[in-house]
Amino acid sequence: MEQLVPTEIEAYAERHSMPESAMCRALREETLRTMEYPQMVVGPLEGAFLKMMTRLVGAKRVLEIGMFTGYSALCFAEALPDDGEIITCEVNEQSAAMARRYFGQVPVGKKISIRMGPALDTMRTLTGPFDVIFIDADKINYLNYYRRALDLLAPNGVILIDNVLWSGEVLKQPPPDDSTAAIQELNLTVSTDPRVSAVLVTIRDGILVIRRTR
Ligand SMILES: C[S@@+](CC[C@H](N)C(=O)[O-])C[C@H]1O[C@@H](n2cnc3c(N)ncnc32)[C@H](O)[C@@H]1O
Repeated sequence: MEQLVPTEIEAYAERHSMPESAMCRALREETLRTMEYPQMVVGPLEGAFLKMMTRLVGAKRVLEIGMFTGYSALCFAEALPDDGEIITCEVNEQSAAMARRYFGQVPVGKKISIRMGPALDTMRTLTGPFDVIFIDADKINYLNYYRRALDLLAPNGVILIDNVLWSGEVLKQPPPDDSTAAIQELNLTVSTDPRVSAVLVTIRDGILVIRRTR
């Protein structure tokens, strides 16, 4: 993933945002050391943003699409109240095993429930409402995830969609590959959907922040 925000600016922003917990740091460092695509972890700045959004909407229920080794799920769990819950979807058993190992070491881990299998199948089985829905899995399905997320979203909830700048590839016409085309289609659909208001925030690789239009 190409870094869109200059490294020094990203580091400065991190230093002036709420710090990551010791457990998140340990999980991130092991992911960086041992996983093939460690750059998939959202990292401290986006993690702080996810926590802030969770608290701002007073979330009790969070749905995550794309857990990987569990960094963002752990951020959500830390931000949720004691009786809050996060359901997180993943297909890869190796990364899920690592996530389970970390979730088992902290009390907030009890708020996290992992659903293995294709996220669209899982989403069909779930009942809303969810206060925060974070979409961060296969880009090709982003529009499908968005559509189902709208069904599951609480009236005052927020949908957050990651990597919507896709290292800047979204600027290219024609799109160089299917993932870029899917993200371009999602961004256009959301920004012209009268049911929602959205802002594309340029944190890290771009996050769409979406709420229902009143
Ligand atoms: C970008 S990573 C998620 C990063 C994670 N949010 C974090 O901060 O560490 C995307 C994850 O989605 C998973 N994934 C891909 N396709 C999926 C699908 N159809 N259903 C569920 N998970 C999927 C991948 O295995 C991968 O672990």
